[in-house]
Formats: sequence, C-alpha cells, structure tokens
Amino acid sequence: MLEVRDLTVRFGGITALDRVSFSAAAGRIVGLIGPNGAGKTTLFNCLSRLYRCDEGDILFEGRSLLRTPAHGIAALGIARTFQNLALFRTMSVRQNILLGAHSRAAGGFVAHALRLPRVRAQERALAAQADEIVELLELGPVAGRRVADLPFGTLKRVELGRALASRPKLLLLDEPAGGLNHEEVGGLMELLRGIRERLSLSLLLVEHHMNLVMRISDQVVALNFGRKIADGTPDEVRHDAELVKAYLGNAP
Ligand SMILES: Nc1ncnc2c1ncn2[C@@H]1O[C@H](COP(=O)(O)OP(=O)(O)OP(=O)(O)O)[C@@H](O)[C@H]1O
Ligand SMILES: [Mg+2]
Repeated sequence: MLEVRDLTVRFGGITALDRVSFSAAAGRIVGLIGPNGAGKTTLFNCLSRLYRCDEGDILFEGRSLLRTPAHGIAALGIARTFQNLALFRTMSVRQNILLGAHSRAAGGFVAHALRLPRVRAQERALAAQADEIVELLELGPVAGRRVADLPFGTLKRVELGRALASRPKLLLLDEPAGGLNHEEVGGLMELLRGIRERLSLSLLLVEHHMNLVMRISDQVVALNFGRKIADGTPDEVRHDAELVKAYLGNAP
C-alpha cells in the first residue's frame, strides 16, 4: 500500500531524512520510532505533502504522492493527526469531527452555495459518518461541548476522530500517546486495535512510548539522524544492536 523509496529531505545543512526506504502492507500497524530529531515528523510531513522532498519517491497504492498537492491527499485516503493538537477550539467536538468528514467530500462550491438536493443528501451522510465516529471513540457524552473546555486526553481522541472521519485507508498518527497518563495509554492501545479491525485501515504511528509501539505494531521502522537503522517485526527490532545504541546514546 505504501512504499517510501530513497526519501531525502534537507534543511540547509541538516539532512533530516537520508535515503529512507521502507514499505508497508495494507491493514497493518507500522510503528515509526527513533530519538528526538531522528526525522519522524519530517517523514510524516512528506507523506502529507507539507514538506517538499529533495530526492526519492513515495508511492501510495502504486501512485506517486509527490504529484499530488497537499489538498489532494485526503481524497486519496490519507489522514493524519499532529504532534501538537490541531483543532478548532471554539467549535464543538462533533463539529470538529464533521470537518474531518468534509475534507473528503465531493461537490463544488456552486453546488454547496445552492444547497442542491445532492449536497443535502451528502451532508446527511457526512453527519451520520461523524456520529458513527463519535460513538466509536466514546465521545458521545462530550459531543456538544466546546473543544477548549475539555481535558487533553479527550482532545487527543477528538483529533483522532477528526482524522478518522475522512474515512482514510492510511492514518498517520504523530505521538498519539504523547502527554497521556498510564491508564489513558492502555485505553488508546485498545482503541487503535479496535479502529484497525472495525474500519480496516492501515496505521503509521510515530511514538516514543516503546511499550505501546512494541505491543501494537506488526512492523517497526527505526530512524536515527535521518537514516533507517532497523525495520522488522517488534521482536526483530527489539534485539537490534544499533537501535539499542541509538536510544542508550540519547539517555541522560
Ligand atoms: N521546518 C524545518 N526547518 C528546519 N529544520 C527542520 C524542520 N523540520 C525539522 N527540522 C530538522 O530536521 C531534523 C528532524 O526533525 P523531526 O522533527 O523530523 O524529528 P522527530 O524525529 O520528529 O523528533 P521528535 O521526536 O523530537 O518529534 C531535526 O534536526 C530538526 O531540527
Ligand atoms: Mg516529531
């Protein structure tokens, strides 16, 4: 489903990604790990076309993403969450999730302005889709609440909901466990497993929480200083000497 080929990104003198290649099969959970500054978010930003790549290619279902502009990514079936939350704080939980559903909706500006029957039917379908996500993420009790008034752990789930509402085939999650407490991380793990089953999608997950990554991923890709240093099942990667060194080298 996803194939990253020799991807290179430079910022001035820094090579944030250095000929990174890996592939991910449909329906899998792929963990992307590595110390701070390893290039994980940069890779996400290339996949969602926020960053320009200097070299290499990214194929999604056999098609080059580099020929798709950032606004066309959702229509292909790729959604993401951000390391720092990106929600509309004065809007409700349900409105935020509905916006996610809209990001993939068809229909031109004129059709919407005239509120043609086709558009109305589509809006009903999107609303139903948003409600389904609200239910799946157990956000029903806070669906009408303003995002700004809710605790951080809930907001992480709202952001996940916003991304899911676009019905992605590939969901990119940047540190979904970041800032969550122990109990919330356990809940997130169950939630992500359930989502993969119920919505049959692929997940690419950046995470520092090693326990979560190792327990949930089918495949783990490790980066260090922009280079891929390991790629395999959690068990294979766990025993990789270079990976252990990359983490221990960064330990205080
Ligand atoms: N927009 C940018 N401009 C300049 N340098 C950047 C930019 N984005 C990332 N970098 C640099 O690229 C390297 C990789 O950064 P990146 O944010 O991808 O790391 P990361 O693996 O996501 O780290 P973290 O775990 O801290 O989130 C770092 O040296 C960073 O300073
Ligand atoms: Mg990052």
